[in-house]
Amino acid sequence: MEVQKKRILTGDRTTGRLHLGHYVGSLKSRVELQDEYDTFILLADIQALTTHFEQPELLYSSIFDVTIDNLSVGLDPAKVTIVQQSAVKAIAEMTVFYSMLVSVNALRHNPTIKTEAAQYGYNEMSYGFLGYPVSQTADITFCNAHLVPVGEDQLPHIELTRKIVRKFNDMYGTHIIEPQAKLSQVSRLAGLDGNAKMGKSTGNAIYLSDTSKEVEQKVRMAVTDPARVTKDIPGTPEICNVGKYHRIFTPDQCDNIWEMCRTATIGCVACKKILAGSLNTLLDPMREKRAYYEAHMDEVREIIVSGTRKASAIGDAQVDSMREAMHLKI
Ligand code: TRP
Repeated sequence: MEVQKKRILTGDRTTGRLHLGHYVGSLKSRVELQDEYDTFILLADIQALTTHFEQPELLYSSIFDVTIDNLSVGLDPAKVTIVQQSAVKAIAEMTVFYSMLVSVNALRHNPTIKTEAAQYGYNEMSYGFLGYPVSQTADITFCNAHLVPVGEDQLPHIELTRKIVRKFNDMYGTHIIEPQAKLSQVSRLAGLDGNAKMGKSTGNAIYLSDTSKEVEQKVRMAVTDPARVTKDIPGTPEICNVGKYHRIFTPDQCDNIWEMCRTATIGCVACKKILAGSLNTLLDPMREKRAYYEAHMDEVREIIVSGTRKASAIGDAQVDSMREAMHLKI
């Protein structure tokens, strides 16, 4: 008998194209784990609405952009299931059930909600925004996912998911899986401008869809060790953005590059050239896959439609057993 693989569910908001921060934070582990786990990738368009409800065109085009971003990094559509969140009705139903088990205060004190609310300048949060971690709990549990590959900013949400699931199971005697976070090795990529986090909204991102020229240009503009005003002043690579990027993207030569920086035997211009080269070496095969999918949009659409259909059937069965357990079935 074939042993059922454990499931992964993870997702991306459909608020624009994905960047290197998404890659090192989550996409890379998705690719590594796709053989071992039955993998679901959620196109989180409902969660995107919580902050971008006034931009329906952006949300629509991002459904396709985010799908192609995921496929371009090497997720195999024959192995993984790509799902449009808003089309899986079970997620909406489960969100309502779960919402009874969470206090408004717990959501208000969620550190990621706080950070994001500040970032978006919300004085007053919408009910939908404040509650998105509850919806994310439904995302993860409609298919009984075991593992959620995420960056560290998502940990409070996974913690909340586990609490809600435990409560629900205790109360109704169900066996919904309590998922675990899988933190990536690099859980937060700083922006090349020195900003703490690479972000879509902060203008400091290198997109997976950037051309090699764009990558070169962005790296050329990157902020480096501010004390290294001229080339003959020794640098401090561990505090330099470009230095930190080498640790991640040029691991084999990194010690060497850091030593040359410390001894002022390499200048920032040359050091940046090496980094742009490393990034383009990583991105080149992705560009090739992207070009294929961009020329086959019907195939991309079909991947989303069939994945969503499969997910809906799984979600319907999950909601059905929950309704049964809650004595809601007449
Ligand atoms: N909140 C995640 C982010 O901002 C996106 C997301 C939505 C997600 N649903 C999910 C991540 C379910 C993991 C599991 O990146």
